[in-house]
Order: sequence, then structure tokens, then C-alpha cells
Amino acid sequence: MVDIENFELAPMPRIVYGSGAISDLSAYAKELGVQALLVTGRGSLRRSGRLDEIVDSLQATNFRVTVFEGVEPEPTLSTVERGRQVLRENQCDLVITIGGGSVMDVGKAIAGLANEPGSVAQHHCGRPLSAAALPIIAAPTTSGTGSEVTPVLVLTDPDRGIKASIRDDRLVAKIALLDPELTLTLPPRPTADAGLDAFTQALEAYTSIGANFITDTWALEAIARIGSSLRQAYHQGDDLTARENMSLGSVLAGMALASAGLGLVHGLAHPIGYAYQLPHGQACAILLPYVIKFNIEVSQARYATAARVLGISKNSGDAEAAEALHRWVSELCDELEASASLSELGATEDDFDSIIAAAMKSGSAKHNPRPVTEGNLRELLREML
Ligand SMILES: [Fe+2]
Repeated sequence: MVDIENFELAPMPRIVYGSGAISDLSAYAKELGVQALLVTGRGSLRRSGRLDEIVDSLQATNFRVTVFEGVEPEPTLSTVERGRQVLRENQCDLVITIGGGSVMDVGKAIAGLANEPGSVAQHHCGRPLSAAALPIIAAPTTSGTGSEVTPVLVLTDPDRGIKASIRDDRLVAKIALLDPELTLTLPPRPTADAGLDAFTQALEAYTSIGANFITDTWALEAIARIGSSLRQAYHQGDDLTARENMSLGSVLAGMALASAGLGLVHGLAHPIGYAYQLPHGQACAILLPYVIKFNIEVSQARYATAARVLGISKNSGDAEAAEALHRWVSELCDELEASASLSELGATEDDFDSIIAAAMKSGSAKHNPRPVTEGNLRELLREML
């Protein structure tokens, strides 16, 4: 048997998976509270009729529900502050969050900071959490961030001009309710953006210096499922099998990254996404082929394994297989219309100092397999211009 190095896994929610699983929401909610704040986005859940169905099913069991809707993509601190106010006014004891990654993150932040005396901004600046969080049920309607299973959330502060994460074990949902049917009506663009984020997270968790025996198995399975299904989910959104694979792949990637950490794509995706107003998944997709090249000298064997898992390089050596992975990722990003140079985004070299400063501070860059320095980061950004 192979020796396994010591490892530790981050806490995880109870995970409920299945097409149609959302119909059991009220039973799970009743285990955790009596009055929920239901957090959702800008209308797709309401337009589909799902929101009314969900609220009706909760109220039918005498559960009280306050809806907090309108969470924007790349959400800001003020949205969380408003949600926390609504939660307090209505004395909610549970947060149910149903939507994409932004909605997951806002729901987790409202529940996590519900009993904190400080402002959301103070915690975004690094003040540790001290009070107990409210329980969270997280039901994703996209297959992307995996936020439903992680202790991490990402918020933007327009006043300070930064996008940064808050991480605390108290932010882990009690229940992650994964129903792939909720993703069937997601349009192609957000399907691609979420899926490219999930693929990047799987690959970065696999090559992270924090990876372990368990996260490797999750990450490789995520790479295989997302790799086999993202194109189909993008071109043929109502294909339930493709959506199921994406749902499983994204949650496995989330489980892997919660313990393994990520890498340089995620270290750069926040400052670049904020500077050029890109959805997170597009920022990841633009960066990923360059970061694979950047890391290839130290991660060749792992990239080769990923290529073999994807079925794109069965009988070749590591060097050739790692190159094949790089080509495959570049072609995928092109096909999903998520490739661009930094100059196409409006970047110039003058922007680099602030991007480098933000990336060097990020935990993700510290988990990158090739050590990141200001010098090699500047070289990488020049290549991307
Ligand atoms: Fe991500």
C-alpha cells in the first residue's frame, strides 16, 4: 500500500443530493428552526415560479418565511448589511439561501454575522468572528463556486475598492441541498462562467500544496465529471445528465478546495475581476491557461494525471500529457467564449502594481505549487497583456 501523509479535512455540511430534492426543503428546515430568512437573487427563481412553490411548501408546514431577494452578482458589503437588518427585524432563526454563488455567499454572510456586534465591513477587514452563527441551508441553482459546502465567502467593498474573502468554520452550511433540476433553466453564459470556475477550482485544488489523499480523489472526480459535461450543459442546457454531472463535479470541487486550498488563478481572479468588472468564472477562465503554463515545470505529473482522467492523453508521457491539458483547457475557454488578453480588457502595465499587491496577500497564491514572487507574477501579467 502507498503511504499516506497526515491530513485534516475542513468541516462539511450534511449533503443531500438528488433531482427533485428541493421538494424536501421544508422537512429539513423544520429540523433547524421556525422562522427563516430566504435569500435569493434578482428574479430568476421568482420568474420560474419556484420561489412561490418553495415559500408555499414551507408555510404549509407552519414555517414562517421572510424573503430577502435581489442579491446582485459579485455582491457588496451593503447587501449583506441590509439582509442582516431584515433578519434581525424578523427575528429569523435560520437562513435558507437559494441561488448562484453570490446568493450562497450573501446568505452565509448574513447567517454567519447575524449575532456579531461589529459591522460587515469590520469582518471583511479581518475582524474574527466571535458569536455563534445561525444555521444555514444552501441550495445552489448553478454548478460553480461550491460555496454550499465551503467555509469561505467572497464580498466586494466598493469604498475600499477590493474584493476579498471571509473564512470561518462557522460559515459552513448545516445542510447543502443539491438538486440538479434547479440548474436546468440556467442560460448558457452563466452556465459557462460557473462551470469554468468549478473546473478551475477542481484543478487548482488538485495541484495545491495543501492537497491530500482525500481531496485528490474528490478533485480528480470533479475534473472528470465537469470535463465530460460542461460543453453539453452549455450547448444543451436541458440535458439533465449533463446538469447532474456538473452539480456533482462542482460540489466535489468545493469539498476539495475547502481543505486543499486553491492556487494562483484564484489569487489573481479577485483583483483582476474587480478591476475589469468580470464575472468570477470568466476571470478564472482567462487566467487558467497562463497559470497552467506558469506551473507546468513543477506540476507536470499532476497536470498529466488530469489529462488522463479527462481521456485526452492516454498513452503519452507526462510532458506531452501536461501540454495536452493546456491545449484542451485553452480550446474549452475559446469554445465557451471566455478567453481574452488583459489589453482587450483595457489593462495596461500601470495596473500591475495594485494587482500584484492584492494577489501576493491572498491565501490562494500561497497555495500555488510554484512559489509566487512579485517578479514572476509581473512576468506572467506581461505575457497576458
Ligand atoms: Fe472560484
